[in-house]
Amino acid sequence: MGFDEKLLQEYYADSPDDISLEDVDMARVPRHVSIIMDGNGRWATARGLDRSQGHVAGVESLREAVTTSVRLGFDVLSVYAFSTENWKRPQREVNLLMHLFATTLVKELPLFHQENVRLRFLGDLEALPEETRLVFQRGLDETADHTGMVFALAVNYGSRAEIARAARELAAEVAAGEREAGSIDADAISDHLYTKGLPDPDLLIRTSGELRLSNYLLWQLAYSEFYVTDTYWPDFTRWDMLRAVRSFQARDRRFGGVK
Ligand code: IPE
Ligand code: IPE
Ligand code: MG
Repeated sequence: MGFDEKLLQEYYADSPDDISLEDVDMARVPRHVSIIMDGNGRWATARGLDRSQGHVAGVESLREAVTTSVRLGFDVLSVYAFSTENWKRPQREVNLLMHLFATTLVKELPLFHQENVRLRFLGDLEALPEETRLVFQRGLDETADHTGMVFALAVNYGSRAEIARAARELAAEVAAGEREAGSIDADAISDHLYTKGLPDPDLLIRTSGELRLSNYLLWQLAYSEFYVTDTYWPDFTRWDMLRAVRSFQARDRRFGGVK
């Protein structure tokens, strides 16, 4: 997508010892970076704070991650904010998160305008509280003609539910005589996922050290490179993103072939 060299240099001034902008090849940045933002609760607990304060702190990291991704020239940044399984959490925490999504989105709309970011949602929004749904729709409407990076927020997202939904839609098309069962291939399935039209993630980052997918983008991550950091999400910075990209660029992606 291209990037603004001067802004980028300024943004990445004052490097820590182990990483600097020179460690990454700007011609080979990943197109789509996806993040499982994990560890908000533990970050808060470790400081004697309520878990909710971890989520509030996590919003600041997300804001920085969006800016960083624009500066580095990613085409897509997607993040896992709330899973279909997260409804199991205490009602108070769920309510706080839903409210936080709504208030944050309103607050960050100027950032999306300034950075030409187009918003997208992954997941079933029907089940969300009205306040959250209305604000999400406003975000979609207001950024619809932006032409820069796509920022995809996964809320009430679960990969298994997503794939089941795709199967239902395809089955309905066959039943209606709109397609042959034999025409259902991998591309047809991809076209019925929430990520329709987006490239698959090149790089998946998970914070807080957990080595699992937690029902996230099971289909789309088939050939993604994984980067796990022990850093809790509220501590994740622009430098961590650079470390992740450096690691990505050192990988040998084979896609099943030989080199
Ligand atoms: C991730 O942090 C944010 C959401 C799932 C909404 P967690 O809340 O899962 O934090 P930990 O994993 O309990 O530390
Ligand atoms: C995954 O994190 C979901 C999000 C980050 C939104 P969880 O904290 O819910 O995952 P588990 O329960 O540790 O697998
Ligand atoms: Mg967690």
